[in-house]
Amino acid sequence: MSAKPREHDIDDAQTSPTGLERLAVRTLKLTDFRNYAQARLDLDARPVVLVGDNGSGKTNLLEAVSLLGPGHGLRGRPYAELARKDGAGGFAIAATVSTRHGEVEIGTGFLPGTREEGAGRTVRIAGKDRSTGALGDYVKHVFLIPAMDGLFTGAASERRRFLDRLVLAIDPKMRTPLSRYDRAMRQRNRLFQLREYSRACSRGLRSRWRKPAWPSPRPGSTRSERLTALIEETQEARGQGPFPHAVLALHGTLETELSTRPATEVEDVFRILLEEGRERDRAASRTLEGTHLSDLLVVHGPKNAPAAQCSSGEQKALLLGLVLAKAELIKTLEGTAPLVLLDEVAAHLDAARREALFGEILRLGVQAWMTGTDRELFSPIAQDAQILAVNRGSIDT
Ligand SMILES: Nc1ncnc2c1ncn2[C@@H]1O[C@H](COP(=O)(O)OP(=O)(O)O)[C@@H](O)[C@H]1O
Ligand SMILES: [Mg+2]
Repeated sequence: MSAKPREHDIDDAQTSPTGLERLAVRTLKLTDFRNYAQARLDLDARPVVLVGDNGSGKTNLLEAVSLLGPGHGLRGRPYAELARKDGAGGFAIAATVSTRHGEVEIGTGFLPGTREEGAGRTVRIAGKDRSTGALGDYVKHVFLIPAMDGLFTGAASERRRFLDRLVLAIDPKMRTPLSRYDRAMRQRNRLFQLREYSRACSRGLRSRWRKPAWPSPRPGSTRSERLTALIEETQEARGQGPFPHAVLALHGTLETELSTRPATEVEDVFRILLEEGRERDRAASRTLEGTHLSDLLVVHGPKNAPAAQCSSGEQKALLLGLVLAKAELIKTLEGTAPLVLLDEVAAHLDAARREALFGEILRLGVQAWMTGTDRELFSPIAQDAQILAVNRGSIDT
């Protein structure tokens, strides 16, 4: 259904201004993924618009694209759930992707019978078995989905996940220390829950709590501070636009300490806090102090008001501004912009903001993936995008 790309568009679209190839999905093949038994898409590097009724499979496609990058996909659901209900129990996604390393074949999937816990998805890059994290060398993405609408008003854990994704997108090496911290916390809490802590202590484990290898302040905290500053700078450089800039701050005991002392001292503070809080934590069966409880506070810059107190439209614009700034920051730091996955975004913007969004996407030079039920909303970008109709698990191209 989409118009055949014009020759000069393809040339322009594939090469970013930095000379590096634009990150773009060129073919996408799905097998037993969500409501797709089999599907195949052949694409050029321009933005992709998926149009279709509710429940036709638009978000599912975005989710499949998100699995070409590291992480658990944009819905963060267990892999077993992604396998088509009437299928054999597994799913497969195969893609050819233009990346900064050239054109690469990426395959990922989940095999029937694999136990969810511990067993991740399989990943193949250029014919070799690789880790999920290795995908980040080839494909990065930023995304905005309706489930994130309550980000500013909802649980702090969601804002931490948002921040963690930001940290990992910019600094993939943080994956190991962050998961080490989380694992250490889980082990500590499990001991409390098993009421074995005192016995474990007497078996000599106690000393291990004091070692820095055990929950030291989540190493991301200092870097998060730097990153939030970078995001602010990126937005500032963009100037006043339709998407308000955000003022970001991390809030937590250790962040407060970090603002007045060097990180090495804060490690000691944290160790002392853990020691002193042991009885309290044992009673609660979980650790009540640490950067796993920090919050990301977001202020609507132009209004100078907490994001949570802004209208839902203002919150959406703020979020979109943050997601676009993240994409721009990745482009600035790495020379290649990420895929930008925007689910049901256009419908919630007024016409001026919608056009501004399309303008930003074209300016950034990204293969954005956008969804909507109303084709009309995308008419301002129709000439510069590939518009595909999604219809109950099949795609008209
Ligand atoms: N594992 C699955 N197997 C089969 N169908 C699924 C699976 N998971 C979700 N679906 C179906 O996929 C359909 C399309 O979902 P979605 O992509 O969210 O639609 P939309 O086009 O509104 O974004 C839904 O009707 C849902 O029931
Ligand atoms: Mg949807």
